Amino acid sequence: MKNEYTLFTELVKRKMNIDLSLYKEAQMKRRLISLRNKSGFADFSSYFHAMNRDDNLLQQFMDRITINVSEFFRNPKRWDVLKNKIIPDLLVSRKKLSIWSAACSTGEEPYSLALLVKEFFPSIEINILATDIDENVLQLAKLGRYKKSSLKELPDAWIKKYFTVENGIYTIDQTLKEKITFRKQNLLADEYPKDLDLILCRNVLIYFTDEAKKTIYNQFNASLSKDGILFVGSTEQIFRPEEHRFSLADTFFYKKI
Ligand SMILES: C[S@@+](CC[C@H](N)C(=O)[O-])C[C@H]1O[C@@H](n2cnc3c(N)ncnc32)[C@H](O)[C@@H]1O
Repeated sequence: MKNEYTLFTELVKRKMNIDLSLYKEAQMKRRLISLRNKSGFADFSSYFHAMNRDDNLLQQFMDRITINVSEFFRNPKRWDVLKNKIIPDLLVSRKKLSIWSAACSTGEEPYSLALLVKEFFPSIEINILATDIDENVLQLAKLGRYKKSSLKELPDAWIKKYFTVENGIYTIDQTLKEKITFRKQNLLADEYPKDLDLILCRNVLIYFTDEAKKTIYNQFNASLSKDGILFVGSTEQIFRPEEHRFSLADTFFYKKI
């Protein structure tokens, strides 16, 4: 007989098209049991039925499975490599860049990209697609309003130049917003965009099973243009990149081969 958690994952998949079985089970189960208990339900079946009737419970569930923390220029040394090596290499054979920030959360990552290109490659045309599974974070990303703590890697001069401050909230400049299209996309179920020169997918692959990761790497490969680059998070090294037709371009950067 199927266990209760497996049945719950099947119901969630049918209702929301989110396949929890592709997320690492021990970690996900622990997180969901603690939320379920906190919400006052002793088993997954009654919890699911309550979620069906109560949008607040549904949103809390979504918040628990999607870990949304982000910040501008997260792991700044990697962004230096992006600026000094990866983008210049891409521009040897390109005049414009098509970029995808996959699992962009509240937008800090795509805005960092738009800012970096505007500062250091001002004559380059870019378009950035920024996606996430969670519509709530996408709404926040579109607003582009941040607390000071998200901006800790930004020099003061950039904060002055690219943000307006009101009551401690920093709103990003319209010229950067214009470079980005925000859209909902589930990496485990939806179609992937094509003809991309650079994909950033950082700090989400760690939550997925090895099988799910393999499928995602292959889909990323198919989404990239010739010699395109995949940029992953600083705990998300790909162990055998050649199995997915990638070569190592620099630490945490993989080039399509
Ligand atoms: C920790 S944030 C990463 C944000 C940003 N990339 C960074 O590195 O700072 C992880 C994001 O992955 C998203 N996510 C989780 N599962 C996803 C899926 N199946 N497809 C797309 N996004 C997903 C979550 O909603 C969350 O916003």
